[in-house]
Amino acid sequence: MGANLINTAYLLAAVLFILGLKGLTSPRTAVRGNFLGAMGMLLAAVATLADRQIVSYEAIALGIAIGAVIGLIWAVRVQMTAMPQLVAAFNGFGGGASALVAGAAVFMPGAISGVPEIQVHVSGVLSAFIGSATLSGSLIAWAKLQGVLRWQPRGLAMQAVISGSALAGIALGVCYVVDPTALWAFGGLCALAVVYGVLLTVSVGGADMPVIIALLNSCSGLAAAATGFVLGNNVLIISGSLVGASGFILTQIMCKAMNRSLWDVLRGDLGEAAAKGATTDVYTGRIKSTSPEEAALIFDTARIVTVVPGYGMAVAQAQHAVRDFANLVESRGGEVRYAIHPVAGRMPGHMNVLLAEADVPYDRLYDMDTINPLFAETDVAIVLGANDVVNPAARDEPGSPIYGMPILDVDKAQVVLMIKRSLSPGFAGIPNLLFTRDNTLMMFADAKKAMQDLSREIRDL
Ligand code: TAP
Repeated sequence: MGANLINTAYLLAAVLFILGLKGLTSPRTAVRGNFLGAMGMLLAAVATLADRQIVSYEAIALGIAIGAVIGLIWAVRVQMTAMPQLVAAFNGFGGGASALVAGAAVFMPGAISGVPEIQVHVSGVLSAFIGSATLSGSLIAWAKLQGVLRWQPRGLAMQAVISGSALAGIALGVCYVVDPTALWAFGGLCALAVVYGVLLTVSVGGADMPVIIALLNSCSGLAAAATGFVLGNNVLIISGSLVGASGFILTQIMCKAMNRSLWDVLRGDLGEAAAKGATTDVYTGRIKSTSPEEAALIFDTARIVTVVPGYGMAVAQAQHAVRDFANLVESRGGEVRYAIHPVAGRMPGHMNVLLAEADVPYDRLYDMDTINPLFAETDVAIVLGANDVVNPAARDEPGSPIYGMPILDVDKAQVVLMIKRSLSPGFAGIPNLLFTRDNTLMMFADAKKAMQDLSREIRDL
C-alpha cells in the first residue's frame, strides 16, 4: 500500500474518531458516535495490517470475524450493572497490548525502521510503564467491582510503598535509556509498574472505582500514544491522545461533581469521613413517613412532578416501573421531568442509560444546572433511591465531608417524597437532614415496589 494511501486512511480514521467522540457527547447521537468510532478503529487496523503486509487478507478477515463474534456475545450477555467491569477489562487489555508492543520493539532492535533509536527507547519505557500499570490496575478494578476482592489497605506506610515502587520503576527506566543493552532494567521496570498498578488501585474504595476506571482509561490511551511513537505510527498517536485526553476530562468531571480532588479519591479518604459521620440519632422524632395509599392523594392535584433517580433505582431495577408511573401521571394531565445529577449512581451516565432502556424520552431528562431553578415550580419531587446527590449538607454545612459538592435542590419543591428502604446513608456515609424537613415525606420501600404500588393506588383514586 502506498504511503499516500495509508496516510489518507489514517487521516480518515482520525476524523472518524473525532466525530465518534463528538457523537458520544449526547444520548441522542451516542449510538451513531459509537458506530463511527468503531469504523475508524476498523479502518486503522486494516490499513496498518495491509500496509506492513504483516498478515494475509484471509487472516485479516478471519480475525475480524472472530473478534466480531466475541464482541457481540460479550455485548449481548453483559448486564448493564456489570458494564464498569467490562470497561475496566478493556482498558487493561489496551494497556497490556501497548506494553507488549513496546517490549517487542525493545527486545527486537532493528525491527522498527525509520524511527530514531532514542525515540524508540524513551517512548518504549513510557509505554511499558504506563501500559503495565494500567493492565494490573484494571484487573484489580475489575476484581473489586465484581466483589471478588474487598481488601483496601490505606495509610502512610501504603502511600510510601506506592510512591517507592513508582520511583524505583522510573529509576530503572532511566537506566535502560542510558544503556539500552540493560534489558534487565527494562524487565524490572515492567515488574515494578505491575506492582504500582496493583497497589494504587487496591487502596481505592470500591465505590470510587468508576473514577479510577476513567483514569485507567486515560492511561491506556497514553500508553497507546507512547507506543505510536515507538512504531512511528501516526494513527496510534492520534487515537491514544484522544483516549488519554477524554479519559482525563471524564475523571475531572467526576471529581468536580463530587467536589473531591483526584488525590483525595486515590487516598480513599471518604471512607474515613463517612465512618465518623454515620449515625441515625439526628432523625429521632423528626421523620414523617407515608404509605403508597396516602402518597397517591398528593398526585391527584400535582401537575409538575420531578423524579430524581439515584443508585437505589439501579439496584432495584425500577426504571420500567418509573416509566409506567410517568405515563400514568401524564395521562392525567401532569408533566414528569427527570433530574440527572452527574454522579448519581455508580458510573458516568448510569441514570441516562437505565432511563433510556425504559424508553424515557431524552427531552424529559434535565441536567443539574437546568433543573435546579425549576424545583421552585415543582409540585412533587420524587427522590428514588438517591441520597448524597440531594443532601442539603453539601450546600449549607461547611463542616460536612461533602460540603461544596453541587446537589439537586429538591428541598425547594412543594413536597419531597423520599423513596428508600431505611434511614441508611448513601455512599458518602453521612446523615441527610433532608429526611427531617417539613416538606419531606419518607416512603420506606424497595424503589421498584414503591413505584408499582404508587401507580396502582393512583389508578384506584
Ligand atoms: P447514594 O448516595 O449512594 O444513595 C443510594 C441510596 O439508595 C441509599 O441511601 C439506599 O438507601 C438506597 N437504596 C439502595 N437500594 C435500594 C432499593 N432497592 N430501593 C430503594 N432504595 C435503595 O446514591 P446517589 O444519590 O445516586 O449518589 C451517588 C454517590 O456515589 C455519590 O456520593 C457519588 O459521589 C458517588 N459516586 C458516584 C460515581 C458516579 S460516576 N456516578 C462515581 C464514584 C462515586 P437504603 O439502603 O435505605 O434503601
